[in-house]
Amino acid sequence: MMKTLKYYFKDCKKNGYCLGAYNFINMETLKAICEGCKKSQSPALVSVSEGALSYMGENFVKSLFDSAKKTYKLPIFLHLDHGKSYEVCKKAVDLGFDSVMIDGSSLSFEDNIKLTKKVVSYAHKKGVFVEAELGVLAGVEDTVSAEKNIYTDPKSAEEFVEKTGCDTLAVAIGTSHGAYKFKGEQKLRFDILKQIEKEIPSTPLVLHGASSVPQKYVETINEYGGDMTGAVGIPEKFLATAASKHHIYKINCDTDIRLAYMATLRKHLKENPKNFDIRKPNTLAIEEIANMVAEKNKKVFKNSGRI
Ligand code: G3H
Ligand code: 13P
Ligand code: ZN
Repeated sequence: MMKTLKYYFKDCKKNGYCLGAYNFINMETLKAICEGCKKSQSPALVSVSEGALSYMGENFVKSLFDSAKKTYKLPIFLHLDHGKSYEVCKKAVDLGFDSVMIDGSSLSFEDNIKLTKKVVSYAHKKGVFVEAELGVLAGVEDTVSAEKNIYTDPKSAEEFVEKTGCDTLAVAIGTSHGAYKFKGEQKLRFDILKQIEKEIPSTPLVLHGASSVPQKYVETINEYGGDMTGAVGIPEKFLATAASKHHIYKINCDTDIRLAYMATLRKHLKENPKNFDIRKPNTLAIEEIANMVAEKNKKVFKNSGRI
């Protein structure tokens, strides 16, 4: 019997590790994430944003996920990332997702509660997990945008979780989406995280915007025709601390996958101008992303062998 998401969140708490939640946008990225998890023998969430859902189409998403599960026989869980409305969350639940995020973080506290509660009441009837968000992350990425950081208020966290019944809570402690996370000092508010943990000790917490932006990919991209000057991420030591010493049991990663993908494509295409077969660079990219995922699972999220 495959273990459930509920089991894993409990086990994260018991054994001091966290789950990676990796975004996929096509067959190649999903395959790479699964290959990585196979190498490290890790459970994981595989996430699709609203943008990715409309890019691939809902039936492709579901079929790709089902095929991946059948092929790899790993504990992977299909998750909707940053669902902005009740309707999109309902659609994901009906499609058979394991978990949905309702992102009401741009709404007022009261409206966020109202929307989250409505999603919880539908999703729980079908046994689907619900992640909510309190506080706003900086950064701009497609439909996910916010102008500045508004850290999660620890005092309202308890009321929010109690009133909504959400299963997990995404918190804002200084991370942000995308490849440009800090202008100056790289800093996370672990003090705020501790206060949140005190207020809601039994709620698994989620860290968004947690890519580490490996500089080797930024350098390759810059060297082979791209321009990502100033790209910087969350230091891995911060993520490892969040994963093993705090109640952060799910850490999201999208940007690092995009960087590994683009760096590999750019390099290959520049060095092989006569190639017009996308399978060649895609194969290299799958290998690169898989190695990165396996390393993150082992060294940062500490969930290797937990399948
Ligand atoms: O957290 C958000 C995702 O990284 C955004 O992904 O560009 O597919 O909307 P997207
Ligand atoms: P990154 O942009 O840091 O990879 O964050 C992804 C994320 O939070 C997806 O929800
Ligand atoms: Zn996010």
